[in-house]
Amino acid sequence: MSAKSNKLVTLDEYIIQSQNRFPGATGELSQLLRDIGLAAKIISREVNKAGITSLLGADGSTNIHGESVKKLDLFADQQLISALDRSLITCMVISEENDGIVRLNSQGGKYIVYLDPLDGSSNIDVNVSIGSIFSIYMREARFDPNLVESDALQPGVRQVAAGYVLYGSSTIMVYTTGMGVSAFTLDPSIGEFILSDDDFQMPEHGRIYSINEGSYNSWELGLKKYIKYCQEEDDETGRPYKARYIGSMVADVHRTLIKGGIFIYPASKRYPNGKLRLMYECNPLSFIIEQAGGISTDGERRIMEIMPDALHQETPIFIGSKKNVEKVKEFLKEYREEVVS
Ligand code: AHG
Ligand code: MN
Ligand code: MN
Repeated sequence: MSAKSNKLVTLDEYIIQSQNRFPGATGELSQLLRDIGLAAKIISREVNKAGITSLLGADGSTNIHGESVKKLDLFADQQLISALDRSLITCMVISEENDGIVRLNSQGGKYIVYLDPLDGSSNIDVNVSIGSIFSIYMREARFDPNLVESDALQPGVRQVAAGYVLYGSSTIMVYTTGMGVSAFTLDPSIGEFILSDDDFQMPEHGRIYSINEGSYNSWELGLKKYIKYCQEEDDETGRPYKARYIGSMVADVHRTLIKGGIFIYPASKRYPNGKLRLMYECNPLSFIIEQAGGISTDGERRIMEIMPDALHQETPIFIGSKKNVEKVKEFLKEYREEVVS
């Protein structure tokens, strides 16, 4: 991604300019995105100095998924939730770090926000890229004003905005409101996110595949065959493809967005429904990838059309460049049909 003009546009300026294109807009979604941007700057600062402030390492507890919680996970969770609470436009938050819905002070607020406050947290201790992921929905009008869990159970196609902040060699914020993908790079010297790309489109085909191959033995046959296909030699499609796996979905998908290719987290013996969470990992990253011209599927269904029945449900995911994802779908279909017949 690269800047298209010499004029520097900050995240706040960009959000206001975008909002001005819609005369009826109330500015609330813009405020929400700015709140997330502010929390992200604070998280970015802590991520960068985690080693010296002893925020590194586990805090000793486990989250609702039985995974050990790192101190920075909790810090990021608190920063994001309190930023959203302050501006009184979000009524509830669902976060990886909290079991049920978190009701905010503004019960009348229009927006529901899903968060993975820190994705890839097992990478914190080894100084590898991590990120915060968000997904925003509107609360639907109902007769009963009390907020319940089912208010939050909406399919990904109803997201009004989604994005992530990647704390990598630089800190980048990428988001969409359904009108293309915009990316911003944090300039730490002035503390501002600066527009680096507007309406970003990803390559239609890429030469990188990304999957944790340690679980190879328990994959379905079609996936095993597809990975072998990626490794075979073929000049026309540029195979063998390169293998890259960071272990932070947000960073693996960001690379896929920029360079093209495919990221896969499939069902396996250990994770029969996949490991990644539909509502705060798969849906928001699918919204970004689709807006950039890519595809995201669970193997059969478009990820964003899955009707959720639980806040923290998992799904297998195949996400990336159009041609790569179409190819893996062909393999899955062929070998699934063989099992049936
Ligand atoms: P989180 O740190 O939010 O719990 O997410 C970790 C996820 C995801 O980021 C990554 O793609 C995946 O776990 C890696 O899992 P494996 O170690 O099983 O490959
Ligand atoms: Mn995660
Ligand atoms: Mn997380």
